[in-house]
Amino acid sequence: MRLSAIMKKVARKALLLVAAIIIVAAAYSVISGTSNIPEGSLSVKAQAVLNESGCVLCHTKNPQLPFYAKIPLLNAPIVSDISRGLKCFDMTADVENIKANKPLNATSLSKIEYAFDSGTMPPMLFKVVHWKSQPTSAERAVIKAWIAQQRKIRNAHSAVAEKFVNEPVWPIPQAVKTDPRKVELGKILYHSTALSGDGTVSCATCHPIDKAGVDGLRTSKGIRGQYGAINAPTVINAVFNARQFWNGRAANLEEQAGGPPMNPVEMDGGSWDAIAKRLEKDAKLSAAFKAVYPKGFTQENITDAIAEYEKTLITPDSPFDRYLRGDENAISPQAKAGYEAFKAYNCHVCHAGQNFGGQTFEYMGLRADYFNKRKDVGNIDDSGLVSFTKDERDTHKFKTPTLRNVELTAPYFHDGSTSDLSEAVKIMAEVQTGKVPSDTDVKNLVEFLKSLTGKLTQAK
Ligand code: HEC
Ligand code: HEC
Ligand code: HEC
Repeated sequence: MRLSAIMKKVARKALLLVAAIIIVAAAYSVISGTSNIPEGSLSVKAQAVLNESGCVLCHTKNPQLPFYAKIPLLNAPIVSDISRGLKCFDMTADVENIKANKPLNATSLSKIEYAFDSGTMPPMLFKVVHWKSQPTSAERAVIKAWIAQQRKIRNAHSAVAEKFVNEPVWPIPQAVKTDPRKVELGKILYHSTALSGDGTVSCATCHPIDKAGVDGLRTSKGIRGQYGAINAPTVINAVFNARQFWNGRAANLEEQAGGPPMNPVEMDGGSWDAIAKRLEKDAKLSAAFKAVYPKGFTQENITDAIAEYEKTLITPDSPFDRYLRGDENAISPQAKAGYEAFKAYNCHVCHAGQNFGGQTFEYMGLRADYFNKRKDVGNIDDSGLVSFTKDERDTHKFKTPTLRNVELTAPYFHDGSTSDLSEAVKIMAEVQTGKVPSDTDVKNLVEFLKSLTGKLTQAK
């Protein structure tokens, strides 16, 4: 190729680049903001900072987009940033909560903290074009103080030591308030095969309490030997999850317990009337139940009792919880190094709060493809949150599982694709944080995770 031809090619490329930058600039420059912090509570101030830094624009589902966001080409960078941004962090519910003056979940707090501390947000191009979006030091201070305040509301009753009060995770309580009479009945129902159509399956079949609340299978085996399409998470500490199931379709334990008895693959109980008839055959149980629930074995009462029992299935006093409460020697130096690695690798950005997860739904494979590289796992439901919300943008988002007792709850992930905790940790680091961890880091991380094994308060 002649020199002039090469020059022409370079010039053309440079021109295209300049044009691209101008288009992006035009797209972003219209979104203007002022960096005035309004008077008012910390929440009001934080809300303003999150708005003005563009966080709300790129990280909520229905942002108030400027007019040109509908113009093809001009909108390309915005559309792509919003779609990528939403994958990493969906703050739609958070924005509503801030407005309503409700505390934010632990995961969102960790994410916002990370974004401000690391200075990675808003993205460079957005900042260049829209320089006012770069948070000022006063704005950073507002966010820092607000996060500390929010965490204190959340961990107020956790007995966390003063020096750990602003950590992204905290201890679970020693007990959750329950009605002991209902717990007793719920325990019987949880272990009763009368809930299933042919009297062979109970909740405990798939969630045996003496095996950390899991069946140890890749996917669960239900009635008549049928296998389900997703791994069974543990029931232990499930009370601390914001919602239940991998896709969050149940708001709480009561609602969740209504699912399996009617599920044809799990218990196939027929109808709640049929279940009531089977349970009534036990005259002693029936009388005891009516004494507490005068209307007897209705769906509402059965699920209420089971949920009450599940609230006692918690594991306080794990070594790490004792450490957080101030017992320096409760965990090994290796586990301490593991906790530092946990934060350095950004695991805490998702596995946050008292349950080390359970609060939000996260895209599986944020930083490296997970699904195409995975070994064959057979028939698995990979859809995730979308199967509940019907919003395509929720595809492959799964409830972040709790990490409490994780050394006992293999196999891991919604597909049960590995039973090796070290491998699960490596996969997480690679696909969620984009880092390949050293062997030492993996060992320390695993040691730390083992310090999350607590003591079950309920005997099985
Ligand atoms: C112009 C759109 C845009 C704006 C404005 C923006 N983000 Fe982001 N955000 C993104 C994109 C794109 C990503 C994904 C970056 C990547 O792939 O690493 C992201 C990623 C994130 C992540 C995940 C980080 C991680 O490593 O897991 C967090 C947390 C986050 N943003 C918070 C914020 C906060 C807080 C603000 C306001 C200060 C903000 N973002 C402003 C587009 C935006
Ligand atoms: C055949 C096996 C099976 C039976 C029987 C069964 N479960 Fe499950 N359980 C599962 C599977 C699989 C999931 C995950 C399903 C999903 O997320 O779509 C699950 C999820 C749960 C969860 C949600 C945990 C979380 O972190 O989201 C709870 C709680 C639970 N089951 C309690 C119960 C109770 C109570 C019963 C009895 C009424 C019961 N299960 C019966 C297999 C079973
Ligand atoms: C972007 C959010 C996010 C980050 C960051 C993250 N995780 Fe996860 N983690 C998840 C989700 C979501 C799952 C469930 C994924 C699935 O089942 O497909 C999960 C699952 C796990 C599991 C398996 C638990 C079980 O019971 O199945 C372990 C162990 C784990 N993560 C550890 C870590 C460690 C260690 C790190 C840091 C190196 C980390 N995670 C970083 C969201 C995250």
